Amino acid sequence: MDGDVAIVIGASGGIGRALIAALRLDQRYQHVVGLSRQRPPDLIDDARQTWLEANILDASNLQVAARRVAALGMPTRVIVATGALHSAGMSPEKSLRALNADALAEGFAINAIGPALVAQHFLPAMPRDRASVFAALSARVGSIADNAAGGWYGYRASKAALNMIIRTAAIEHSRSNPLGVCVAVHPGTVATPLSRPFIGQTPPSRLFTPQVAAGHILRVLDGLSPEATGGFYAWDGATIPW
Ligand SMILES: NC(=O)c1ccc[n+]([C@@H]2O[C@H](COP(=O)([O-])OP(=O)(O)OC[C@H]3O[C@@H](n4cnc5c(N)ncnc54)[C@H](OP(=O)(O)O)[C@@H]3O)[C@@H](O)[C@H]2O)c1
Repeated sequence: MDGDVAIVIGASGGIGRALIAALRLDQRYQHVVGLSRQRPPDLIDDARQTWLEANILDASNLQVAARRVAALGMPTRVIVATGALHSAGMSPEKSLRALNADALAEGFAINAIGPALVAQHFLPAMPRDRASVFAALSARVGSIADNAAGGWYGYRASKAALNMIIRTAAIEHSRSNPLGVCVAVHPGTVATPLSRPFIGQTPPSRLFTPQVAAGHILRVLDGLSPEATGGFYAWDGATIPW
């Protein structure tokens, strides 16, 4: 098999599902692969799409998934669309008083360590002699330079850690894959389970549906040249300062 494959890690998420739907319509990809812990009900395997079970915190899951993807074709788009802002044991902290070691560790694991393991297993599978893009969905609040409002310690810090992992991986990747691009992308505010408790004040013009957000993300990735590797980009293509 030598056709191009697009891979979305976080296939069960709001943005992840919309990315898969959009990539399926893109004839440049012979196959689209979705990875998540549980199969989304609408992701049925067929000649052009495959679902693989993977927990991003389990390196052996990722190793098996990377091997299965290699049998389907050449991964030229890999998008990490996993992440967490809140869970049963974690919610954005408004003050230092609210910090909790377990919640901080959970956020760092999902937002920074998981994507690092994905990069470890999927970047080496990308083509050395052709253009390709590996992107991790980050968040503008992970920008240290842009932090004027404070709060959200764990989420901000875990996304800042993710940004550093992406930047560092981009440098290493560019040595073996000079045409490869490895970036962090802020999708904007998107109506998904992740944002639902926090979007009350967001004006409708600044709140994207997952479908619109997926279109923005894919357009930004399509527009990146190898010189753009190691950067942090917003949904409209603007560079975000670290
Ligand atoms: N929505 C926004 O407004 C917004 C804004 C800025 C940045 N982002 C970023 O965009 C990305 C996607 O967010 P979203 O809004 O689409 O969130 P979402 O709907 O809550 O989806 C999150 C995804 O992460 C997956 N996930 C979490 N832990 C996992 C693990 N250990 N192994 C495998 N998958 C795991 C979830 O899978 P399960 O179903 O298995 O839990 C789900 O597929 C995140 O990185 C988020 O930080 C979103």
